[in-house]
Amino acid sequence: MEKTFIMVKPDGVQRNLIGEIVQRFENKGYTLAAGKLMNISKELAEEHYGEHKDKPFFGELVSFITSGPVFAMVWEGEGVIATARKMMGATNPQDAEPGTIRGDFGVQVGMNVIHGSDSPESAEREIGLFFNEDDLVSYEKTI
Ligand code: CMP
Repeated sequence: MEKTFIMVKPDGVQRNLIGEIVQRFENKGYTLAAGKLMNISKELAEEHYGEHKDKPFFGELVSFITSGPVFAMVWEGEGVIATARKMMGATNPQDAEPGTIRGDFGVQVGMNVIHGSDSPESAEREIGLFFNEDDLVSYEKTI
């Protein structure tokens, strides 16, 4: 089954949005395969955001994502990579539609509440950076 990496960023954690975000993915019908509250090291942040290393905001991005705990998750389900991106809304919360996570809870592009993998390749890479294979739980729903 398709899996994606989703992370509530430090602003989302500090604004008590973990529950709201988990609820949206559960309500949609996706299944949580792994989740942990953690601090990201500078090394992990630089690796995770490696594709942005030449961007002018790279320093700011790394410093923000390491500024406080994040809630890292793996969600599983049909089409979850693309659908999670729709649920999150545009990267800049000011362009994100109401009803999306960033549209409902964010204002600034740097503090945009949530990160989600943008492709199957990114999902595999990002899940591997944050989780070991045996952290992922797979189960049949029986009720
Ligand atoms: P994310 O989906 O985590 O992936 C890269 C992040 O870079 C993005 O969300 C934004 O939070 C951040 N970002 C993009 N553009 C800017 C910008 N102009 N200034 C600061 N951060 C940015």
